Amino acid sequence: MMEKKAILVLLVLTLSLISGQEPKKIETLKAPYRIHTLFSVECQNYFDWQTVGLMHSYRKAQQPGPITRLLSCTDEERKNYRGMELAPTFEVPSMSRHPKTGDWYPAINKPAGVVHWLKYSKEAQNVDWVVILDADMIIRGPIVPWEIGAEKGRPVSAYYGYLIGCDNVLAKLHTKHPELCDKVGGLLAMHIDDLRALAPLWLSKTEEVREDRAHWATNYTGDIYGTGWISEMYGYSFGAAEVGLRHKINDNLMIYPGYIPREGVEPILMHYGLPFNVGNWSFSKLEHHDDDIVYNCSRLFPEPPYPREITQMEPDRNKRRALFLNIECINTLNEGLLLQHAAFGCPKPKWSKYLSFLKSKTFAELSRPKPLTSQSRQMMEVEVHKEVDNAPEKPHPKIHTIFSTECSPYFDWQTVGLVHSFYKSGQPGNITRLLSCTEEDLKQYKGHDLAPTHYVPSMSRHPLTGDWYPAINKPAAVLHWMNHVKTDAEYIVILDADMIMRGPITPWEFNASRGHPVSTLYDYLIGCDNILAKLHTRHPEACDKVGGVIIMHVDDLRKFALQWLHKTVEVRLDRSHWSKNITGDVYEAGWISEMYGYSFGAAELNLRHVISDEILIYPGYVPAPGVNYRVFHYGLEYRVGNWSFDKANWRHVDLVNKCWAKFPSPPDPSSLDQSDNNSLQRDLLSIECATTLNEALRIHHERRKCPDPNSISTTNQDTTNETRTNDDASRTNAETRTNDDETRTDAETRTNDETRTDAETRTSAEARMAVETTTSRKFGKVDNDVRGLRHDDVPKNNSQQSSQPDTSNGTFSSMRFWIMALWAVSIFAFLGVMSVMLKGRKGLKKRGKGYKSKRRTSYSGFWDTNGQDNRHIRNAETA
Ligand SMILES: *[C@@H]1O[C@H](CO)[C@@H](O)[C@H](O)[C@H]1NC(C)=O
Ligand SMILES: *[C@@H]1O[C@H](CO)[C@@H](O)[C@H](O)[C@H]1NC(C)=O
Ligand SMILES: *[C@@H]1O[C@H](CO)[C@@H](O)[C@H](O)[C@H]1NC(C)=O
Ligand SMILES: *[C@@H]1O[C@H](CO)[C@@H](O)[C@H](O)[C@H]1NC(C)=O
Ligand SMILES: *[C@@H]1O[C@H](CO)[C@@H](O)[C@H](O)[C@H]1NC(C)=O
Ligand SMILES: *[C@@H]1O[C@H](CO)[C@@H](O)[C@H](O)[C@H]1NC(C)=O
Ligand SMILES: *[C@@H]1O[C@H](CO)[C@@H](O)[C@H](O)[C@H]1NC(C)=O
Ligand SMILES: *[C@@H]1O[C@H](CO)[C@@H](O)[C@H](O)[C@H]1NC(C)=O
Ligand SMILES: *[C@@H]1O[C@H](CO)[C@@H](O)[C@H](O)[C@H]1NC(C)=O
Ligand SMILES: *[C@@H]1O[C@H](CO)[C@@H](O)[C@H](O)[C@H]1NC(C)=O
Repeated sequence: MMEKKAILVLLVLTLSLISGQEPKKIETLKAPYRIHTLFSVECQNYFDWQTVGLMHSYRKAQQPGPITRLLSCTDEERKNYRGMELAPTFEVPSMSRHPKTGDWYPAINKPAGVVHWLKYSKEAQNVDWVVILDADMIIRGPIVPWEIGAEKGRPVSAYYGYLIGCDNVLAKLHTKHPELCDKVGGLLAMHIDDLRALAPLWLSKTEEVREDRAHWATNYTGDIYGTGWISEMYGYSFGAAEVGLRHKINDNLMIYPGYIPREGVEPILMHYGLPFNVGNWSFSKLEHHDDDIVYNCSRLFPEPPYPREITQMEPDRNKRRALFLNIECINTLNEGLLLQHAAFGCPKPKWSKYLSFLKSKTFAELSRPKPLTSQSRQMMEVEVHKEVDNAPEKPHPKIHTIFSTECSPYFDWQTVGLVHSFYKSGQPGNITRLLSCTEEDLKQYKGHDLAPTHYVPSMSRHPLTGDWYPAINKPAAVLHWMNHVKTDAEYIVILDADMIMRGPITPWEFNASRGHPVSTLYDYLIGCDNILAKLHTRHPEACDKVGGVIIMHVDDLRKFALQWLHKTVEVRLDRSHWSKNITGDVYEAGWISEMYGYSFGAAELNLRHVISDEILIYPGYVPAPGVNYRVFHYGLEYRVGNWSFDKANWRHVDLVNKCWAKFPSPPDPSSLDQSDNNSLQRDLLSIECATTLNEALRIHHERRKCPDPNSISTTNQDTTNETRTNDDASRTNAETRTNDDETRTDAETRTNDETRTDAETRTSAEARMAVETTTSRKFGKVDNDVRGLRHDDVPKNNSQQSSQPDTSNGTFSSMRFWIMALWAVSIFAFLGVMSVMLKGRKGLKKRGKGYKSKRRTSYSGFWDTNGQDNRHIRNAETA
């Protein structure tokens, strides 16, 4: 019977080879999206039943691409082995007994098998992405490397917090880069090139750690047995550190049965490495160490309770979810065994309640492939590695990074660039995009998944005066975020969308503290020194000429955000002081009111800035020698030879929804003139900035599963076509352009501050234009591919994090309330300014002052109460 079946299988295989037809699944994957799943086992009953479970779940969950079992058998084992048909198999020499040292350590077969596969398997040459699993796993949903966040150079893995050796002398002994050691394992998803670099070191570091018996103790390895059993895991972490691979660490994709999944998280992988139970039923893989259950027609694992029983047994919703996972694990294993028995030609088993359950719709429904949820994709925060050998120091405060944008293609490509560079920079903490949009724009907006997002009603147009001033969205959005989100971060980093991060911006490095935010110098803000400051703040002497990057303590920001908005409105309304000799703004159109709003608001609260010129650089400027700038601000046109980049030219170009759209590539660094070091360093930075933007776009397009770029020949042409139209469009604004062109000539020397003034002015002007065009722009085809993969880093239910942009539930109307309240406040501000003016004119000093301070206390009262109310609601919700 069994032989017959085997012959049949062979026949089918042969036929498919002859006709050149591969199974359908494989056919659908083309470069660069070819996924291959690997797992490593030995010739033993123990691994055979695990293989059956994993293979069955692989098919059931519709994991894309082929799967290969790396089978390591000793000669003895191989002779009598019965399970060759259990999975597509690649045999690798057994290293259980080390050929040199004689050490018995079967776990080394995993790296050894991978090395062998890479070297000798033909299949490995047609693979782009590799998913490496353990045999004792059940796949619940497709594990698609780029969908779970893997990038070339950034593998995704699950968190193994117990690998404490990453933090102690073990890492220092075994890798040159202990600071890069990630505590990961279990699930690995990476690019094949990364695996090729890593695999040999994974093997050699495993040998090394295994031989270092002096450091097997629990206090070094975290291994409770202290027997060097987890050397392979350290081999992996140290090997990755050695080749500089930093992981994106995910603690949600994989779950151990027995653990309770987080709210909103649907794990796509189960790892039954630990015992688990449901009531008095339990399962432990170790109890089946020699179990030949695969080859015994009459056996399945003991049946677990039924779903109905669990529903009765466990009232708590979350605990119940955990129990459902437990039975899903064992039921999937049993279902796999049943099918395998049938494939081996076992007689049809007798009817039983359990068998009919396994064949029932209920079970089919419960074990359907699980899609990825946005919560499951959430990475853990990048760990900030403390100095390995220093005595335990105070942990660093938490940081959160935010930036303000609007619903437009212009901000979308900037968002893609910034968010990509954020993750690459190693900036600790999370990032949130503050997205200011009108209700109408939001309905048609397609870019929800570009970043973790907090939605804010647009404040671009003043409801009373009709004043169009989009730059006000920045303080308004920050205030909205502070009022609606409960952040656990101690410091907030505020960036502009047109920035690219190069490295971390941390309060501890730049010496931020409470009362002392860090920022960068904007010394064209001459209003700090003249009547403008005297009019708009009680502490003109505290006015700092700063902007760009801001690192502020959250307690300061809580008070400051409202001041920032007030002062912005005030300065904006004070048209009589928009002139260049007062504001430094060549356009004299009040565009930089928001910047003064910032400086005056900070002065009002007596926040004194730590001003650093080592954080931010404009591409096109000559860098100061030896400074490792952390941020590019590409607000100005910059050029390298005859190549140039001006963000203003890309205002209307939809680079984000159009497959493989990108900016013209900058020149190759090797083509640069080496004779002048200053201009060389400048050009290298310029190229880096543009290259990072393009890389971000490429990865974005990959993630959206754009078709293979090689099959689209028109892409480049398309882009240039659009650029040209776009250029024309922006030229129509003749007035601005004339000014701009002058600026550009200056900009080439970039010595005086005026250049910067112009640049900044333009930034604001651009923001305005961008939004103006938003209103009239047409929306292209609706992208159906978003598939609900939003990362609103937000549990849906509480107002803690952001609100969904859903106009049907009450959220948006509460936003509308918020905006009305805000404008009510700004009416007060308007009155305040009027009174200041009156004061100026009539010299009614006392009255004016009295009124002003009274006004001030009245709004802060309003806002405090409001804040408390919010807190109240939040508490009620969490309770
Ligand atoms: C670990 O324990 C060993 C003895 O078991 C001791 O000699 C060693 O100092 C300990 N190391 C650390 C880092 O605590
Ligand atoms: C398991 O618990 C149920 C009731 O909760 C009981 O009826 C049954 O006898 C128990 N089984 C064993 C093996 O203890
Ligand atoms: C199959 O398992 C049953 C129950 O454990 C056992 O009695 C029987 O001997 C096994 N048969 C074989 C062929 O191992
Ligand atoms: C940051 O993200 C992690 C997951 O990546 C999440 O657990 C954490 O709650 C987030 N922190 C904040 C403040 O949102
Ligand atoms: C931060 O403060 C330390 C000590 O006060 C000083 O050495 C360091 O240069 C400061 N860093 C910056 C960026 O100002
Ligand atoms: C600024 O310029 C305006 C005219 O443009 C002039 O009336 C005013 O006196 C100037 N103010 C200062 C402080 O120079
Ligand atoms: C060029 O400048 C960079 C920093 O700006 C410096 O590190 C490098 O040594 C300089 N090279 C030469 C040849 O002067
Ligand atoms: C840019 O300059 C290079 C030489 O520096 C030249 O070969 C090339 O044609 C120029 N390209 C354009 C578009 O002017
Ligand atoms: C470029 O634009 C022209 C006119 O706008 C259009 O006819 C042509 O098809 C476009 N070319 C490409 C490659 O899209
Ligand atoms: C949200 O909260 C409401 C009650 O506040 C509750 O009924 C509902 O089940 C919750 N939804 C989720 C998804 O947790």
